[in-house]
Amino acid sequence: MVRAVAAAALAALLSAAPSAAETLAPWVILGPAGAVVRTLTTEAACPRIRYDDFDRPMQVRVGPWADYPHTVCEAPLPKIVQRVTFAGRDVPVPKAEVRRVVVLGDTGCRIRGIFAQACNDPAQWPFQRMAAAAAALRPDLVIHVGDYHYRESPCPLPGAGCSGSPYGYNWGAWRADFFDPARPLLDAAPWVMVRGNHEDCNRAGHGWYRYLEPRARPVDCEAFTEPYRVEAGGLDLVVVDSAHALDRTPPPPLVERYRPQLAAARALARPGAWLLVHHPLYAVFRFDGPERRPLETNATLLAAAEGLGADPFSVVFSGHIHRFDVFRFAGDRPSQVIVGGGGTAVDPALGDGPDRFAIAGMDVAERVSDKGFQFLLLEREGAAWQATLHDLDRGAVRRCRLEGKNFSCPQ
Ligand SMILES: [Fe+2]
Repeated sequence: MVRAVAAAALAALLSAAPSAAETLAPWVILGPAGAVVRTLTTEAACPRIRYDDFDRPMQVRVGPWADYPHTVCEAPLPKIVQRVTFAGRDVPVPKAEVRRVVVLGDTGCRIRGIFAQACNDPAQWPFQRMAAAAAALRPDLVIHVGDYHYRESPCPLPGAGCSGSPYGYNWGAWRADFFDPARPLLDAAPWVMVRGNHEDCNRAGHGWYRYLEPRARPVDCEAFTEPYRVEAGGLDLVVVDSAHALDRTPPPPLVERYRPQLAAARALARPGAWLLVHHPLYAVFRFDGPERRPLETNATLLAAAEGLGADPFSVVFSGHIHRFDVFRFAGDRPSQVIVGGGGTAVDPALGDGPDRFAIAGMDVAERVSDKGFQFLLLEREGAAWQATLHDLDRGAVRRCRLEGKNFSCPQ
């Protein structure tokens, strides 16, 4: 009798546990303190990871909570470590010299209200294909310029091509939008993760801090975080968190919040550094009205940069607009490059505008705009970089070159 009761209690206990324990393959994020390895597990304790000839424990970053069933585990990855393995599989380690960089952004499958992308159709939401194609190019580093989580509402119609999709601010949506499709590229190289407005504190911010923010996790979702520098194998990067910067209107308190952030980012810039910020600093969203007036964006960051003087970066990489744009300037300002065609519903190309126009008071010397599911591969060539725009349907569509502050795409 006692034995029967004990067996029933044990069965009840087991049925309350996850049906199958799982531990994800790790991913590697570069941050201001170097590299960190992360994984997720439903096991009671964090796993161990192998650094060269030694096993070491991973620590708890945060335990399971509500709609996030995993413990997030992490371990710092010192530069001295040559090889990392986990469950017998290699984990990518930072290269001593980064020569090949993939840049992409805006990757999730958009379901919001009645707008629904066909997430179940790899032709219409191709992030997994893109991750595989980019991984095949053997990058040393991946830069994601923000906006990972897009499945905010239930699939609205049975015929919308997204039936069965998870949605909301929870693990299921993060897995479908990011962790499953990104896997080939997470296995290929360490990543630099930029925070987008989809990861702001009204949206997927909690998931952002659990999974992707490289630094210590705050107790609650923080709207603003400080800029930081990443040293990535001879490439200097400065990352700005612009998650809450408003596109069209610059509220003065927000401008005052971002101005010291942009100033701090500039102070971190070493010669040749790239600035990574989700919202473009110097861009035109569209040409408006019969006179094709350029509508500049991002209004908040443009206002915040006023009075800061010359911009020391060599290039600004952003996303947010879902296409490929380049704005090269006639004066001493870094080119603005937008790489936002990473899988979410694409925006129209910029189209015809005036022959000459300025952004934030400086003439644009060259502009390029392309529409499609696209990512950029940059290859080091001395002090310059060759950049190839890869379109999933059309192949290598543009060849550009970054030299000094000029990102140029001759046709
Ligand atoms: Fe965005």
